[in-house]
Amino acid sequence: MRFGGLTAVRSVDFTVNAGEIVGLIGPNGAGKTTFFNCLTGLYVPTEGTVTYKGTVLPPKPHLVTKAGIARTFQNIRLFANMTVLENVLVGRHTRTKEGLWSALLRGPGFKKAEKASEERAMELLEFIGLAHKRDHLARNLPYGEQRKLEIARALASEPGLLLLDEPTAGMNPQETRATEELVFAIRDKGIAVLLIEHDMRFVFNLCDRVAVLVQGQKLVEGTSDVVQADERVVAAYLGEPFQGEPGEEEAAEVAEAEAAAAAGQTDETDQTDQTDQVDSTREANKNTSAPETGNTPEETADTADSTTTDDVPSTTSTKGEAK
Ligand SMILES: Nc1ncnc2c1ncn2[C@@H]1O[C@H](COP(=O)(O)OP(=O)(O)O)[C@@H](O)[C@H]1O
Ligand SMILES: [Mg+2]
Repeated sequence: MRFGGLTAVRSVDFTVNAGEIVGLIGPNGAGKTTFFNCLTGLYVPTEGTVTYKGTVLPPKPHLVTKAGIARTFQNIRLFANMTVLENVLVGRHTRTKEGLWSALLRGPGFKKAEKASEERAMELLEFIGLAHKRDHLARNLPYGEQRKLEIARALASEPGLLLLDEPTAGMNPQETRATEELVFAIRDKGIAVLLIEHDMRFVFNLCDRVAVLVQGQKLVEGTSDVVQADERVVAAYLGEPFQGEPGEEEAAEVAEAEAAAAAGQTDETDQTDQTDQVDSTREANKNTSAPETGNTPEETADTADSTTTDDVPSTTSTKGEAK
């Protein structure tokens, strides 16, 4: 993927198999989000193709979602002034005959026709632990819950492959731990997960495989052990060898944070900040041209009509190879 003279992602050949949790790590500016944008059709790759279950995907976000690939964004995108439940329903709109506008306008046929959809949306909210907040406005959720809600909205399109761009960014240790459990639970539902993350403990705890992107190129790919031990990775990215068992370290951190919470301290994210996380220009349904995330909620919410997840999800970019 080239932007003028800059090649942001070069010859990255990458496959995700069914049942896998795969991590994509690398320094800021390495091209990770650009890679996601190529996979999901937000960017049209200068070269290369994306293949899902043996079919080359057209670089159109709604068709990619329809095919069975859903994503969340590095910068949270929710409809700030819609409720939690409505945000998930929007994520389902192309799976229903009524479509987005009916879902948004809640016309006369909507409630009846969308009953099943609503039931499914509530199931997803229960799954992520936000059912009790169904009628809250998205903008009033704490930051960690907004991230969860984005995941629920992505799941609402019933994907076979879920792409998460920095799902724990800005989370406290408890929230990060909960997200880890959530990702395992998503995988256990038969959904493959590809995630970008800076929290190394999170990545190495979760992932079956990890790929390291440096300056747009894949430096190394392998199991957590292989990647952590790779000298080039240590030099280029980690800085120093990874110390100890990530699981134990994290457990200690969580225990400490929980003890602090029990002692009456709160770890709530600042509300003003949270509101800022919600992009209200998207909410107004305008097509903006923010380069990294040039998408509208409509596209974000695009969902699948006919996805089956019993096959092998696989993506390959920027050089294509079908699985
Ligand atoms: N739409 C765009 N136009 C021009 N340059 C871009 C665009 N999107 C990303 N880039 C550039 O591509 C490089 C990779 O960015 P990005 O994929 O966001 O990195 P990462 O997610 O790994 O931090 C950066 O140098 C960034 O400035
Ligand atoms: Mg990024």
